[in-house]
Amino acid sequence: MKILTVAGTRPQLVKIAAVSRKLRKEYTEILVNTGQHYDYNMAGVFFDELNIPKPDYDLGVGSDSHGKQTGLMMIKLEEIFDKENPDLVLVYGDTNSTLAGALVASKRLIPLIHIEAGLRSYNKDMPEEQNRIVTDHLSDMLFTPSDLANNNLLKEGITKGVRKVGDVMMDAVMYNIKLAEDRYSLEKFKLKKKEYILSTIHRAENTNDKEKLKRIFEGFSNVEQKIVMPLHPRTANLIKEYGLQELVNKSNIEIIEPVSYLEMLLLEKNAAAIVTDSGGIQKEAYFSKVPCLTLREQTEWIETIEHGWNKLVDPQKDNLAEEIFNLKPGNDIDDLYGDGKAGDKIVNLIKQHYQN
Ligand code: UD1
Repeated sequence: MKILTVAGTRPQLVKIAAVSRKLRKEYTEILVNTGQHYDYNMAGVFFDELNIPKPDYDLGVGSDSHGKQTGLMMIKLEEIFDKENPDLVLVYGDTNSTLAGALVASKRLIPLIHIEAGLRSYNKDMPEEQNRIVTDHLSDMLFTPSDLANNNLLKEGITKGVRKVGDVMMDAVMYNIKLAEDRYSLEKFKLKKKEYILSTIHRAENTNDKEKLKRIFEGFSNVEQKIVMPLHPRTANLIKEYGLQELVNKSNIEIIEPVSYLEMLLLEKNAAAIVTDSGGIQKEAYFSKVPCLTLREQTEWIETIEHGWNKLVDPQKDNLAEEIFNLKPGNDIDDLYGDGKAGDKIVNLIKQHYQN
């Protein structure tokens, strides 16, 4: 059986690294890299560091408006599907690359598998929410990270093919954390354990509006601790475009280039706190048991909030410095997102399902 995987953004590369390793023991995998992320430090370093197999196809789509980016991916994917005739298509998460793979597979009546299914923020303005809803409704097998995700699907009438397996990002952390500690040290970043805050900002809802992004950096300018911020190119470009550089310079923020996955795991584990708008980093904060503030109005990772490891903060209203000061660790609980064996479960379930 031939499985075709579509991926193309930084977090998807982390996820495929966790699953491909297992998948390739049983199946032929054709890997298509859409090229949605294309800078070396947003994509290439992940292939190298995580030993991701070389893609069979590089679509080289890059950045564009959402319609054009997704459309271009679809055109190129269809040609590849014609040539390869895959038995199954595998997509991950909630990006435009996920949506493109899902749409082309289902229009060609190829069974579609969605990993990290069932998440909802219930904010349809987010491109990620649109991508998740469409992908889940088109999928034949839906692998979810939690009971809550299963429940979200149930509310939309999706029950067939839904299986809770845990979170593949947990697999990735468990597999890589020791490697990260062996290979890198905080000295490289001139940081000391638990004496800094780690922050990332890249979501469209925070960055596409000048006033919103300005408020975020105003909030940071009152924070006394050192803040290290590996910056997504989207935000770096917009800081320049909006003329916010001076505001950033006045704060304790040290902006650095985007870091590799292993470097990020090390920075997360040793941070006193994490402030982010990323979905994956909220979870990684929890996996590392570091308290987290999420600069968004909703999150898909409700469990991290319920157990006190994460808090939603509105930078337009709330006092960021005060929120950071008041951060405490959450409940001492078992792992919310599985046991780090999601990849094995996914491969076994695919085997069972498609043998019958
Ligand atoms: C995408 C996903 C988002 C995910 C994020 C992970 C969608 C709709 N969004 O957002 O869910 O959290 O990836 O990082 O798919 N850019 C570069 N170099 C790159 C990539 C991007 O400079 O390698 C810049 C470009 O200016 C581009 C902008 O970032 O226009 C946005 O990139 P895009 O891929 O559209 O979305 P992300 O913000 O990365």
